[in-house]
Amino acid sequence: MTQEIRIKDAKDHVNEEVRIGAWLTDKRSSGKIAFLQLRDGSAFFQGVVLKNKVSEEVFQTAKEMRQETSMWLTGEIHEDSRSHFGYEIEVHDIEVVGESEDYPITPKEHGIEFLLDHRHLWLRSKRQFAIQQIRNEMVRATYEFFNKEGFIKMDPPILTGSAPEGTTELFETDYFDQKAYLSQSGQLYAEAGAMAYGKVFTFGPVFRAEKSKTRRHLTEFWMIEPEMAFTHQAESLKVQENYIAFLVQSVLDNCAYELKLIDRDPEILKRYTKTPYPQIRYDKAIEMLQEGGFDTKWGDDLGSPEETYLSEQFEQPVFVLNYPKAIKPFYMLPEEGRDDTYVCADLLAPEGYGEIIGGSERETDYDKLKAAIEAKGLDLSEYEWYLDLRKYGSVPHSGFGLGFERAITWICHLDHLRESIPFPRMINRLKP
Ligand code: 4AD
Ligand code: MG
Repeated sequence: MTQEIRIKDAKDHVNEEVRIGAWLTDKRSSGKIAFLQLRDGSAFFQGVVLKNKVSEEVFQTAKEMRQETSMWLTGEIHEDSRSHFGYEIEVHDIEVVGESEDYPITPKEHGIEFLLDHRHLWLRSKRQFAIQQIRNEMVRATYEFFNKEGFIKMDPPILTGSAPEGTTELFETDYFDQKAYLSQSGQLYAEAGAMAYGKVFTFGPVFRAEKSKTRRHLTEFWMIEPEMAFTHQAESLKVQENYIAFLVQSVLDNCAYELKLIDRDPEILKRYTKTPYPQIRYDKAIEMLQEGGFDTKWGDDLGSPEETYLSEQFEQPVFVLNYPKAIKPFYMLPEEGRDDTYVCADLLAPEGYGEIIGGSERETDYDKLKAAIEAKGLDLSEYEWYLDLRKYGSVPHSGFGLGFERAITWICHLDHLRESIPFPRMINRLKP
C-alpha cells in the first residue's frame, strides 16, 4: 500500500511513492508536460505530470482539470530547490474526487469587498492559509506560555449583565424576561478566578458594538485576559512583555514557511523577542505628540493616528503608563500621589500598529470601588458579586487583555484586522 501523507511532510518521503488528497490551485501545460499547483491545507507545492510517464487518460485529466478540483494523487516526491517549499511530486496517477467549475477567485487581482463576500473560499488562498497557520501557532503558544507560568484557563460567560469597559459599545439581547449583553471583556470574572485559583487566563470571543470603521476594529474579536492575585502592576508588565516575546519567538521557530509566504522579514520580528520593552508615562506621550505636531492635550484619549505616531518612535513594543482617570474604566487602581491618574498601561506595537494590550492594577478597596462604580453611573446591583471580591480577603491584583487579532495583524504585518480572523465581523459585515 502506498503511504498517505500531507504535503508538509514531503521532506520525509523523498524518492518515495506516496498518496495525497489535494486541490488544484493553478496549472499550466504544454504538449508533453503539465505543472499542477497543489494544496492540501498543510502546504502548497507543485505536481509535475510527464506525458510519457503516465497513461493518456491521466495526462488528459491533468490538462483539463479546473481550479479547485479535488483529487487523490499518487506519485514520487522529489527535491525542488527552485521553490519556497523545496519539494515537488512527480505525478503518476490522478483520481478526481470533486469537480470544480468557474471558481470565483482566480489568480488575477480582486477587490477587497469581493474577497470578503467570498471569505469561505478566500480562506483557501496562500496568503490566508499562512495567516491562519500563524494564528494557530499563536493559540498554541498562548496555552504553552500560561501553562508553564502556572496559570489555569478559565472560561467566563458570554451572556452577561455587566459592562466592564463602558456602556456605549454593548450588544444587547433579550434574555427571557430581562436584558443581557454579549460580553465585552471577561475581566471581572477573571478577577473572581484569580481570587479562587491565584493565576488564571481567559481566551475567548468578546463583542463590541464599535461604530468605528477603522482597520483596527472588529465587532467580534478574541481576547486573552490573564489575571493575577498578589501581583502589582510592575510584575504584570513583566508577564506581558515575556508573553509577547514568547509569541513572537514561537512564530519564528515554527512558522518560517508561512512567514515566507506572506513576505514577513524574520529579522524584524527578532527585535521583539528582546525584553524589557521601553516604558513611558502618558504625560511624556502627550509631550512627544505635541513635539511631533499633534494638538493633543493632557486628558485626551489617544486615537489611532496618535498611537501610530508613538509606536513609530520605538524599535520595540512600548508601554504607555498611567493614563488619566477620565478615559479609563472604573476598576483601575488610582496612582498614589496623583489624583488624576490610574496605575495602568497600554502596550503599543511597533511599526505603527498601536495598542495591542490594555491592562492595570485593580482597585482592592470595597468602598472606593463601590464609589467608582456609582460615579460611572453603573447599576450597582449588577456589580454586587464583583464587590464581594473586595469583602472576603481582598488582595492586590493585576491583569491585562491582549487583543488577539491586533497581535496577529502586527506579527503578520497586515493592513487590516479583517484578514487575521477566519470570518470577520464588522459594522457592515455579518456574512459569510
Ligand atoms: O483595552 P481594552 O478595552 O481592555 C479590556 O477589555 C480590559 N478588560 C482588559 C483587561 O485588563 N483584562 O481591550 C483589550 C484589548 C485592546 O488592547 C485591543 O488590543 C483589543 O483588546 N481591542 C480590540 N480588538 C479588535 N477590535 C476591537 N473593537 C477592539 N477593542 C479592543
Ligand atoms: Mg484599551
